[in-house]
Amino acid sequence: MPVTDQAFVTLSTNDVYCQGALVLGKSLRNHETSRQLVVMITPQVSSHMRTSLGKVFDEVLEVDLLDSADSVRLLLLKRPELGVTFTKIQCWTLTQYTKCVYMDADTIALRNIDELFDREELSAAPDSGWPDCFNSGVFVFRPSLDTFKYILQYARDHGSFDGGDQGLLNSFFSNWATADISKHLPFIYNLSISSVYTYIPAFKQFGSEAKVVHFIGTPKPWNCKYNPQTKCIVEEESLSGNQHLLFLVHWWEIYTTDILPLLTEQEGLDCTNKHQFGRIELQMKCDNVSSDCAKEDHSDSPSNTILKSCIQETLTVASECYETITAPADLANDDGLDVQPSSSSEQRTLDDHLHGEDLLPSQLSPQPVTEEDSVHMPHVSKSVSELAIQEAEEVLKAEEERRKWEEGHIDYMGRHSFDNIQKKLDRFLQ
Ligand code: UDP
Ligand code: GLC
Ligand code: MN
Repeated sequence: MPVTDQAFVTLSTNDVYCQGALVLGKSLRNHETSRQLVVMITPQVSSHMRTSLGKVFDEVLEVDLLDSADSVRLLLLKRPELGVTFTKIQCWTLTQYTKCVYMDADTIALRNIDELFDREELSAAPDSGWPDCFNSGVFVFRPSLDTFKYILQYARDHGSFDGGDQGLLNSFFSNWATADISKHLPFIYNLSISSVYTYIPAFKQFGSEAKVVHFIGTPKPWNCKYNPQTKCIVEEESLSGNQHLLFLVHWWEIYTTDILPLLTEQEGLDCTNKHQFGRIELQMKCDNVSSDCAKEDHSDSPSNTILKSCIQETLTVASECYETITAPADLANDDGLDVQPSSSSEQRTLDDHLHGEDLLPSQLSPQPVTEEDSVHMPHVSKSVSELAIQEAEEVLKAEEERRKWEEGHIDYMGRHSFDNIQKKLDRFLQ
């Protein structure tokens, strides 16, 4: 039974982050959430994207762009672009719902997580960088205009220690670390990929339980290159921890299977536009992939089996991909997807909000999601986690090999034979 007074809420201030929001929304649908799906957007988001969002989310709500404009603290965080995350706090204005779970657009649900609604405000998982702070990428809250006003007031008086919403919310809900353990969500509800490779044994032990993966930091999944033919992430040098690649592959599988068709089905998308290279070339290649998958009989073979087998296929090729390192394509900047700097007329100051009258965001016509939109694949998450663990083990093995190599234990006749090294170089140069 759908629960109409509770919702998952996400945010996107531009078309690029909308790609993440769409994948997140779809991942929640895939795991048959009974809650409403809401995406908050700002005026920069294109009408084309709004239409696509309307096919996944129950409500597409326009809110004002709020920016901390705290360049100094944002510099400390090394994320100058995150001032706009102040926009997030407008989730407290969604008083049409009694309880909500906020999720960043760079998160993805691997299982049904509706049990989060049993928790109280403010429940969140520890931040892996400073565990006495909660990570504000996933949190349970109760919409309330009073709370919204108090947070805004707090922001105006004290700012945020990291320049973004996380610093602000941690100061506002300052007793989170010590007051009530039931408000500490287990880390599996906000598994930050960066922590996967800082503590591999823990990931090996607990990773298969992961429920939400958070692609915290950079690059984001949509900035990675994905080859749908081999189903490989073309690795970027900064992605030094390979073990989360399968989570990325999982993100891309949803993106290519469910989201790209949504984004391209509308008329007016210029497929020849070079700026859309990343997307469109992908789309063409992706057609082959989906038609391969489509060969299976959809009626008695649920899409979870198809996706599962697609992902399992990736395992066999994934290890070969580890060595394919190419220059990253920063899609966020060159794909022409409407990443516009915020104009001052669209951007509200905190004062505007505190003293303005229109506290509530205006509502765009929401489009209900049909049954056909939802894809059922309850078992996929487990396999993705298990495969990711397998990856972690492979990384450990590779590291062990590298250590041996560095200590002079070289397997001249076997793995390190001239032929093998030549093949590796050829692959790299291709
Ligand atoms: N966000 C956005 N536009 C931006 C930057 C951030 O809409 O330009 C939203 C989006 O929901 C994103 C969240 O704010 O997931 C927090 O930013 P991000 O996930 O990049 O921060 P991280 O988790 O990497 O610290
Ligand atoms: C964090 C959180 C993110 C937040 C950002 C800025 O790293 O993951 O949700 O927006 O910090 O405070
Ligand atoms: Mn995030």
